[in-house]
Amino acid sequence: MRRHATVWVDASSKAGPLDRRVFGQFIEHLGRCIYGGIWVGENSPIPNLRGYRFDVLEAVKRISPPLTRWPGGNFSSAYHWMDGIGPRLHRPRKFELAWEGVEPNEFGTVEFIEWCRLVGTEPFIVVNAGSGTPEEAAAWVEYCNSRGDTYYSSLRKRDGWSEPFNVKLWGVGNELYGRWQVGFCIDGAECARRTIEFVNLMRRVDKSIEIVGCGIDNDPEWNIDMIKIAGNYIDYLSVHTYVFCPKKHEDLIAAALQIERNLTSIYKTVEATCRKFGVKRIRLAFDEWNVWYKEAVPPMHVQFTSMRDAVFTGLVLIKLQKISRMVPIACFAQTVNVLPLISTGDDERMVLSPQYYVYELFAPNVGRQVAWTGVVGPTLYSEEAEENVQAVDAVASCDGNKMYVHIVNGSQDEAVDCSIRVAGFDFKSVKHRYLAGSTPDDRNTFEEPGKVVPRDSEKVESRNGEIILSLPACSVHLLTLTR
Ligand code: AHR
Repeated sequence: MRRHATVWVDASSKAGPLDRRVFGQFIEHLGRCIYGGIWVGENSPIPNLRGYRFDVLEAVKRISPPLTRWPGGNFSSAYHWMDGIGPRLHRPRKFELAWEGVEPNEFGTVEFIEWCRLVGTEPFIVVNAGSGTPEEAAAWVEYCNSRGDTYYSSLRKRDGWSEPFNVKLWGVGNELYGRWQVGFCIDGAECARRTIEFVNLMRRVDKSIEIVGCGIDNDPEWNIDMIKIAGNYIDYLSVHTYVFCPKKHEDLIAAALQIERNLTSIYKTVEATCRKFGVKRIRLAFDEWNVWYKEAVPPMHVQFTSMRDAVFTGLVLIKLQKISRMVPIACFAQTVNVLPLISTGDDERMVLSPQYYVYELFAPNVGRQVAWTGVVGPTLYSEEAEENVQAVDAVASCDGNKMYVHIVNGSQDEAVDCSIRVAGFDFKSVKHRYLAGSTPDDRNTFEEPGKVVPRDSEKVESRNGEIILSLPACSVHLLTLTR
């Protein structure tokens, strides 16, 4: 017997605005993310636009990331930004302390800003709060944002950019709680004091910048100290979560729900701490997340994820849309070649993962308002989480005469007949695009790059505000309704 799910959408009952920044990306000087992924240099035989790898640039444009975090990750904790400015030929080739590699510094601030402009994404820069100083961070803000006739601003003008970059979002440090981090902190209180020293100088240069401070996904005390001591200096608290080597399919599906619960619980702690200590509102920046398999080892971090991971990605993106009031920023780790959405060869080959196609279905296709969405359907049991979780999840958002509904069937081997009942939105036409493999393990590789690609349904059955779809096992869907 086939399973059945019902999705209810009520457009007249708004669940709040949707912050598109939840579809952000993250690129780091690590493995072949920047060098070989984003950047090949002007003299490369690989087709490029002023040094930016052309196929990757076009692919990233198609997932329209609202913001992009750079230069790390761990890399940022040992990065001295002045090594990456000025004429490229004169930049130092340095031993890189965070990943113990070599950094040629061919790609620096100007290259990142130009990348952001080409893609149409907002820059989000993480300063070195590991081995760097507050003064160095403030000088970076001046280089990027100052119009004045002062030294660092004049360096930007020398580099060919008379107008300020106006970088609004700045991270102070990365994972400073970790012993693997250059310049880590012993506890949240130390991190909070360090954050204050940095922000104090950075904001003297530009009062309008927004700050992401270092939080953690599994230590409430750290987060409480950050808010209590440095709360009035930051706007967002960063949280990272990687799902390491999930044992079973059901555990990966349950991990998406755990992420949502954990983010909500961290936000509640932050909110309560703000209230208790008279701190203004602080929200979360989920600025690194992904699934991480054992083959993805440093420094390359290569993995080719499957349709199963695409389903996990779709579920997380559904949940992020629902909680963007609390978590308005999220960045997928990472865009190219490192735990990647996009993989490139040393030659002209490029592979788009099923996870990439989920971003293509989701990020450009959302409205500004989330509509109330409820789902009743089959469940599956995760041994790791020791609970039943919903196999089908969905979210809808609206914009003017459009409604977008994203649906995921997380069931490993069962197709689900799904009826989508829409109230408060009188639609005239429906389009359906979806991603499914023949098994959850299907993935795209250099040998078989087109194994899993999105498809359009030729015809969608709908009557009286009800749409009927068959959701193949392990599949991700986009419905576009027009009134
Ligand atoms: O994304 C790879 C690494 O994972 C990042 O550099 C670090 O922040 C995290 O631990």
